[in-house]
Amino acid sequence: MSDDYSDKNPSLGIHYPAHIQELSARHDRALASSGASHVVIFSGCPKVAFLDDFQYPFKPNAHFLGWAPLTNLPLSYIVYSPGEAPRIIYYLPHDYWHPVPGQPDGYWTGSFDIRIVHSIEDVGEHLPDNRDQCILIGEIDDPAHAFGIERINPTSAINILHYARGVKTDYEVACMRLASRRGARGHVAAEAAFRDGLTEFEIHQAYCQAVSQADNELPYSNIIALNAHGAILHYTDLDRQPPEETRSFLIDAGAQVHGYASDITRTYSFNDMRFAALVERMDTTQLEIVSKVRAGVDYRELHVDAHRMLAGVLVDAGLATGDPDTLLETGVTSAFFPHGLGHLLGVQVHDAGGFMENEAGLMIDPPSGHPFLRLTRVLKENMVLTIEPGIYAIDMLLENLRGTPAEHHVIWDGVDWLRPFGGIRIEDDVRVMADGCENLTRDAFAAVH
Ligand code: GLY
Ligand code: MN
Ligand code: MN
Repeated sequence: MSDDYSDKNPSLGIHYPAHIQELSARHDRALASSGASHVVIFSGCPKVAFLDDFQYPFKPNAHFLGWAPLTNLPLSYIVYSPGEAPRIIYYLPHDYWHPVPGQPDGYWTGSFDIRIVHSIEDVGEHLPDNRDQCILIGEIDDPAHAFGIERINPTSAINILHYARGVKTDYEVACMRLASRRGARGHVAAEAAFRDGLTEFEIHQAYCQAVSQADNELPYSNIIALNAHGAILHYTDLDRQPPEETRSFLIDAGAQVHGYASDITRTYSFNDMRFAALVERMDTTQLEIVSKVRAGVDYRELHVDAHRMLAGVLVDAGLATGDPDTLLETGVTSAFFPHGLGHLLGVQVHDAGGFMENEAGLMIDPPSGHPFLRLTRVLKENMVLTIEPGIYAIDMLLENLRGTPAEHHVIWDGVDWLRPFGGIRIEDDVRVMADGCENLTRDAFAAVH
């Protein structure tokens, strides 16, 4: 597989028409549920900072992005009418203050009826005349952007589309393989920068350089955490000062290709053998969890299973004592591992539909005591999701165990040892198969090393 991230990549072009076919079928069902004839999808409107004239970086509607790899095309529309090629109303403003999007180009153009407009007022003439037969999907802050369409984001249609989005098309998987490859290159560069003793800020620069993406193009803010910072789950500061002593490095960083994300975490020991051994143990445990991924598995059970496996790691690492069920029931494993095992991945890093039992919108709650689990579905072939177990020394959570039956199952000296290293998370992106899974992340590292 080549590393061609561009819209000229033939391997994306090959899969794209079937992707459009599948999206069309999903939108046919969404229309039937709404009793409407056309779906209109708005890409979004740039947001302006409070009392300012500067715009936040543009983040397109994920529904728009799923149709076409247009990550930076504000104020544009896609119109889907059954039996017709999807239409795109492609807004190319006359603007000398800002860069304007290029002319439509690349593998996606052959699948669309493209209408270029230079003025917002001209959008209306390319929309279906019978607006009462349209549903609109998008964030509408200004009623003028609805062009008279009154049915905005009808729940039944959104449910159908979100549920279906859990399963990826071959085109989407191809984009995500590339995103994984791109992210793995960044991780290799970041590890080298860490080994050179650079600061968090410098490691971040090395990462962005290697993936050739600026902060705003990354799928989420990089977590570049040296030492104890690894215990702050969403640590997105970038320290400009080197630590007095470099001990550990937790990096959670992805990349995107045509809007599709990778989401990858690795943890490294600088030169401490005990921490290195624990990282190694977490790595084999993570792979053991990955080996259980296959179609038909209930992800809630996999999450609870992971807690049991992590209980064994905590005991062997001198952080806890007791059998797995006791450590689970008393809340010891949750204090060390306080987030979900993973989530669906796609055009959104936490992709939509993770809690859906069916397309009618019935929801599946996380298991009791595990409120942060974002994926509760039974796995299906071609779902793409993360497996990201972690253990951390988070005093706020561990201190809550004092005075409870859990207190005597925690080895507090062990916590004192782990604290300066922060924690460990290992995160891979996997595609579910009938009898196992494809590990996009491990494959990508193997290819770029
Ligand atoms: N990087 C965000 C997450 O792992 O969910
Ligand atoms: Mn993740
Ligand atoms: Mn992550």
